[in-house]
Amino acid sequence: MPTTDHLVIFDTTLRDGEQSPGATMNKAEKLRIARALEKLRVDVIEAGFAVASQGDFEAVKSIAETIKDSTVCSLARALDKDIDRAAEAIQPAERGRIHTFIATSPIHMKHKLQMQPDEVVAQAVRAVKRARSHVEDVEFSCEDAGRSELDFLCRIIEAAIDAGARTINIPDTVGYAIPEQFGQTIEQLLNRIPNADKAIFSVHCHNDLGLAVANSLAALSHGARQVECTINGLGERAGNAALEEIVMAVRTRQDFFPFDTRIDTSHIVPASRLVSTITGFPVQPNKAIVGANAFAHESGIHQDGVLKHRETYEIMRAQDVGWHTNSLVLGKHSGRNAFRSRLLELGIQFETETELNEAFTRFKAMADLKHEIFDEDLQAIASDTRQKEEDGPYGLVCMQVSSETGVIPRASLTMTVDSKEHKVNAEGSGPVDATFKAIESLVDSGCNLQLYSVNAITSGTDAQGEVTVRLERGGRIVNGVGADTDIIIASAKAYIEALNLISKGAERRHPQGADV
Ligand code: KIV
Ligand code: ZN
Repeated sequence: MPTTDHLVIFDTTLRDGEQSPGATMNKAEKLRIARALEKLRVDVIEAGFAVASQGDFEAVKSIAETIKDSTVCSLARALDKDIDRAAEAIQPAERGRIHTFIATSPIHMKHKLQMQPDEVVAQAVRAVKRARSHVEDVEFSCEDAGRSELDFLCRIIEAAIDAGARTINIPDTVGYAIPEQFGQTIEQLLNRIPNADKAIFSVHCHNDLGLAVANSLAALSHGARQVECTINGLGERAGNAALEEIVMAVRTRQDFFPFDTRIDTSHIVPASRLVSTITGFPVQPNKAIVGANAFAHESGIHQDGVLKHRETYEIMRAQDVGWHTNSLVLGKHSGRNAFRSRLLELGIQFETETELNEAFTRFKAMADLKHEIFDEDLQAIASDTRQKEEDGPYGLVCMQVSSETGVIPRASLTMTVDSKEHKVNAEGSGPVDATFKAIESLVDSGCNLQLYSVNAITSGTDAQGEVTVRLERGGRIVNGVGADTDIIIASAKAYIEALNLISKGAERRHPQGADV
């Protein structure tokens, strides 16, 4: 068993998290999340899959140029072209890592790779050596390790370590593992592989059976010392192990775990909000650590107990994970400098002065409508303002909606298509329906609306509503997000953002696709 008392936190929100249908982020959004992760003090940021597209490559590169306090990593299949592209993208990083992988389960080798086990070992060794020719820090993953044979895992891992891998990752790719069994697998690998002491063993668990965090913790108890996780548990299908849950379990149960992380837990809630706002994936209220109810006590008995002695019903302090209940930060009379510094404290940095000015104008307009401006409002303003690098063709100029008892709701909008103004209007079963129909009367997108959700960003009836619209077309799914104190306007913004995203239609390779 390794004796190291440091647990390496490897965050893959920007890579595996982005593989959630609809969670695609642009470069500026990824940079903002990377900055928040650095503030959180994660050890490794998996910034993307550089070979997937030009956009992914540029995002990884700009994160590598910006981030100083975390290692920046790119994923690469065990292919020369992937590894060379990953190396190029992380080249500017102070500390860069290449994470290469190949599938090792019988089902993946036979049906996906159509390769013999010997060929898979040879390709893994070649990939690790090639990655090592670029960087010192190389991680090797056995995709679908959770369903791989132990003897084969031992063989390929020993060879990968000999070839120069310094981190060995054991993914439960399909979320099939059970904690006790997964922990035993890690222990047996550590005991049986002769050169296991030359690498840090890592785990990467998916949540298909709701066991990603439990499996990760079991693996850590049996000797793994890196855990791969995502903010809010974002990720393929049911997601990955949630960073906040793992970090707080380890921190809270130091009597049980003989290691700790270097995470600054006070940045957990802001990071969670940022990821939720950018991806449009709301956090369920009862979600551990970061859900709105995670520290709320409803029952009288609990409230009474907490008032008498907090620890009667609380095992963590809300402020330790970054809950500082809607602190009022700025008001109508706040100036541009105060606005800029508060944004910086929240980890929000605009790339251009024009963006900052635009955000400040929005802030002033909001301060006229809403006297109390909270951090959450600032984050929504920032998200709304960020200029999409590849801005789409559609824009909202202004709108008017009528809604009256007994009268059919009607929406009239002025929209731009490629900067040219158009007036559209429609009736609907409600004001949101009328708005979307009016937009579609012009765009005729052919998209299916898969999700429409509204969340109040803060409390009070003057709160901004944050609307998420998920559209699907030809198998491609995007999420548009819009925020406004008027939820019908927020809905129009979200719908238009989703249309812009779908209109880009950029093709990206999926890392775990069949084209190896
Ligand atoms: O789930 C998985 O197997 C992965 C690998 C690429 C590490 O995401
Ligand atoms: Zn994964």
